[in-house]
Amino acid sequence: MSALPGSAEGTAVTGLDSSPVEPAAADLPPLTEQVRLEAREIIARYPQPRSALLPMLHLVQSHQGYVTPEGVALCAEELGLTKAEVGAVATFYTMYKRRPTGRHLVSVCTNTLCAVLGGQRIFDALSRDLGVHHDETAADGSVTLEHAECLAACDYAPVVTVDYEFYDQQDVDSARELVAALRRGEKPHPTRGAPLTDFRGVSRQLAGFDQYGGEAARAAAVDAEGAIGPTLAGLRLAAERGESAPPMPGPARPPADTAGGPRPAHPSQAQGGARDGAGETVRPSGRTGETPEEEAADARVAAADNPAERAGAAQAHPDKGAEYGQPRGRQHAGTETPPATEPATGTTPTDGKA
Ligand code: FES
Repeated sequence: MSALPGSAEGTAVTGLDSSPVEPAAADLPPLTEQVRLEAREIIARYPQPRSALLPMLHLVQSHQGYVTPEGVALCAEELGLTKAEVGAVATFYTMYKRRPTGRHLVSVCTNTLCAVLGGQRIFDALSRDLGVHHDETAADGSVTLEHAECLAACDYAPVVTVDYEFYDQQDVDSARELVAALRRGEKPHPTRGAPLTDFRGVSRQLAGFDQYGGEAARAAAVDAEGAIGPTLAGLRLAAERGESAPPMPGPARPPADTAGGPRPAHPSQAQGGARDGAGETVRPSGRTGETPEEEAADARVAAADNPAERAGAAQAHPDKGAEYGQPRGRQHAGTETPPATEPATGTTPTDGKA
C-alpha cells in the first residue's frame, strides 16, 4: 500500500493533515489535580514557563493517550498561552498525537534507505494485518501504526520502533511476529536500549518523570544490553577516511597550553592566527621547530579516546600544513571525502547497510 497524494493516508504522510484534535471519548478519565501539579513541576524546571510546553504535552499523552482538548486547555491555562498557540505546537510535531493511540505505537521507517531495503513492504504487511493505514489504531486498541521518517539508524535498516525503542534489521516476517506478540500482550525486548514499556509509559519518561517502578528497575533499564551494539559505522568510516567535523565558528581562543584554557578548534585559533573577515584567510605560522602549540596538538592526538576523535585532532593539528594558509573556501571541508580515498562507484564500504 502506498500513500497516494490526495488520499486520507497521503495527506497524513506528507504532513498536510489538517484534521482537528479529536474530542475525548466519554469514558476517558479526566486530567486530575495531580496532573496539574506535575505540569507545574515541569514548568518550574525552566527559566521561561513556555519552554515547558513540549514536556507538558508528553505529560498529557501519558495520562490520556493523546493530546486531548482538555490537555490543550490545561497547558494553555498553566502557561498563560492561548489554546491556539498550544494547538499550533501540538500539531507541528509528529510525536504529539491528535487521535487516541493504541497501547503501543509502531513506527516503520519508510525513508530512503529503509524503504529500498524493505521498509515499505514491512509497513504494507503490518497495514494489512492490522487493517489500518498510517496514524490509525487497530480495532482492538493494541497498536497504532505510522510511517516514520529516518530514525537515525540507517546502518541497521530496515528499522521499526515500538514506543520509540529500536527493533533493528527487520524484515516482513520478523515485523509481523513482533506486532503479533504486542497484540498478545507480550513485550519483546528491543534490539538495543531499555526494555519496552508502552506508549503512555514512554510519554511519561519524555515528560521528564520516571516510568519505572523504583531505583532497581530504572537502573536495569538504563543498563539494558541489546542484541546489537551502538551504531558506530559512521564513526568508523570517518576515522578510516581521516574525516572530521569542521571546526566550530567563533572567536579566537587562547592556546591550549595556557593553563586551564580550552582546546583550540583550528590551527588559526591555536596560534592566535587571524581570520581576515571577508576572505577568512588563515595566516601561515612560518614556524620551523616544534612549538608549544604543536606539542599540545600532538598530545591531543595521542590522548584521543576513539578513532573519530583522533581523526578530528589530527585534522586540527598545526602540522596539517598542506591546506594551512589557504582561503577557507579552498580548504578541505571536514566532511568531504578526500579524492584519494573516495570508494569506487558501485562499491560499498561496509555490509551495504550504511
Ligand atoms: S532511512 Fe530508516 S533509519 Fe535512516
